[in-house]
Amino acid sequence: MKKLIAKAAEARKQAYAPYSKFKVGAALEASDGRIFTGCNIENASHGVSCCAERTALNKAVSEGVRRFKRIAVVTGAKNPSTPCGICRQALSEFSPDIEIIMANTQGKAIISTLSDLLPNPFKL
Ligand code: THU
Repeated sequence: MKKLIAKAAEARKQAYAPYSKFKVGAALEASDGRIFTGCNIENASHGVSCCAERTALNKAVSEGVRRFKRIAVVTGAKNPSTPCGICRQALSEFSPDIEIIMANTQGKAIISTLSDLLPNPFKL
């Protein structure tokens, strides 16, 4: 868990967040043990922005990886932040039972599951 949080904290350094100044890093561990990292990438047209979790997820899926064990998300907030609704839905498409580790740069961490954070995801 510490290693995954450290990877997310490292990815957070690449965050492009000139508008919100809120930097986020994520590290997504696949079922095969591979780790995909991501950061938030903002845009002057705000709706174009991408959260750290979805950056990591899109990297993994585009490499052919679709099953995940856990994701660590690191912010600089006083209390660890939970993934936004869009990211919860995006993760649920591939791993509805993924574990979610939320941490901050001061060393606080909370563990939950996607099924707790998003009990009724949209499905087709
Ligand atoms: N953000 C994430 O990267 N992940 C989340 O789950 C919530 C929010 C980013 C989006 C934006 O760049 C900044 O945090 C402030 O909302």
